[in-house]
Amino acid sequence: MTRTSREVHLLDRPENIPQREQFRIVETQVNDAGDGEVLVQNLFMSVDPAMRPRLAAQTPLNAAIEGGAIGRVVQSNHPDFKEGEHVRSLCGFREYFLSDGTQLTRIEPDGLPLSAYLGVLGTTGLTAYGGLLVTGALQEGETVFVSAAAGAVGSTAVQIAKIKRCFVVASAGSDEKCAWLRNDLRVDVAINYKRQKLRHALKDAAPKGIDVYFDNVGGEHLNAALPRMNPLGRIPVCGMISAYNNFGSISEPVTTLSNLIYNRVTLRGFVVWEFESLREKFLADMKDWIRAGKMKYRETILDGIEQAPNALIGLFSGANMGKMLVRLAD
Ligand SMILES: NC(=O)c1ccc[n+]([C@@H]2O[C@H](COP(=O)([O-])OP(=O)(O)OC[C@H]3O[C@@H](n4cnc5c(N)ncnc54)[C@H](OP(=O)(O)O)[C@@H]3O)[C@@H](O)[C@H]2O)c1
Repeated sequence: MTRTSREVHLLDRPENIPQREQFRIVETQVNDAGDGEVLVQNLFMSVDPAMRPRLAAQTPLNAAIEGGAIGRVVQSNHPDFKEGEHVRSLCGFREYFLSDGTQLTRIEPDGLPLSAYLGVLGTTGLTAYGGLLVTGALQEGETVFVSAAAGAVGSTAVQIAKIKRCFVVASAGSDEKCAWLRNDLRVDVAINYKRQKLRHALKDAAPKGIDVYFDNVGGEHLNAALPRMNPLGRIPVCGMISAYNNFGSISEPVTTLSNLIYNRVTLRGFVVWEFESLREKFLADMKDWIRAGKMKYRETILDGIEQAPNALIGLFSGANMGKMLVRLAD
């Protein structure tokens, strides 16, 4: 037997903000699971800013795009997977797929919503955890600045910093996002960077300076944070979303780098895969924090695979609060 599945293809490489017409939803037929195979139906897929630089080169044209997903095993002829189990994979942007099991990681049931494994309990959460605690070497009581703070990684990072009793300054692109950060996530100061001059607002928000700047944005955010950094401050560079729609991800000029010298500030990029050895400890901490009400999370969920291109495009206009997801099935 075969079943119809839909998948998202890239037709044309975007030169600026991706356009809906550069993607196509394509119907394919997926067979039953053969010997040693698993048939997976995706339930949720993740949409991530890092996909944008890949659209410029690595993502193949006219083929299903790669991305994180959570699915249910609907047929299994593989000894390690049973029907009804839930699995994580990088086979998003499609409704069904066949696997030999190598791309799948089983999710053990724990009463927490499955979608959280694409956000706060998944790569997103590990990025915030490792970036802040390892690369950022965060110490209790320090002053922390997080940009894109109402997004998936940012909203996790600000709460980890609050759990570590830090003074937290956050920036986001709307008053509604800033209200969420202040009222629900307990950040000390939230700056709407679209309405306030970031350099002045940061000076007022952190009069004693910044010890750790968790950079999700680059460009003007980095420019504004550098002069505010304290001696031996750390800047874990998580992402530079302000540059991703430019050719070669070239950022706006950052002209304040000389501030690194006399304050002996460390500016260091990282990738989440560096923290794989921490995954078990991260999951245990995160589940404790969620159950204790210290870690909240939000999701912006669009329904149906046809919404996947809009979800991706929406990341660049700030359409999401918390993790941007697409629901592919109930
Ligand atoms: N290093 C790693 O291993 C790793 C892993 C995961 C993610 N990341 C990076 O972490 C960052 C956040 O990712 P995420 O998945 O959590 O996405 P996200 O923050 O949930 O979504 C993107 C947000 O960025 C903000 N934004 C978009 N364009 C902007 C601009 N020009 N200037 C300032 N803000 C802008 C928007 O919020 P506003 O409304 O606030 O503008 C938008 O909602 C990204 O840079 C991503 O590449 C890195």
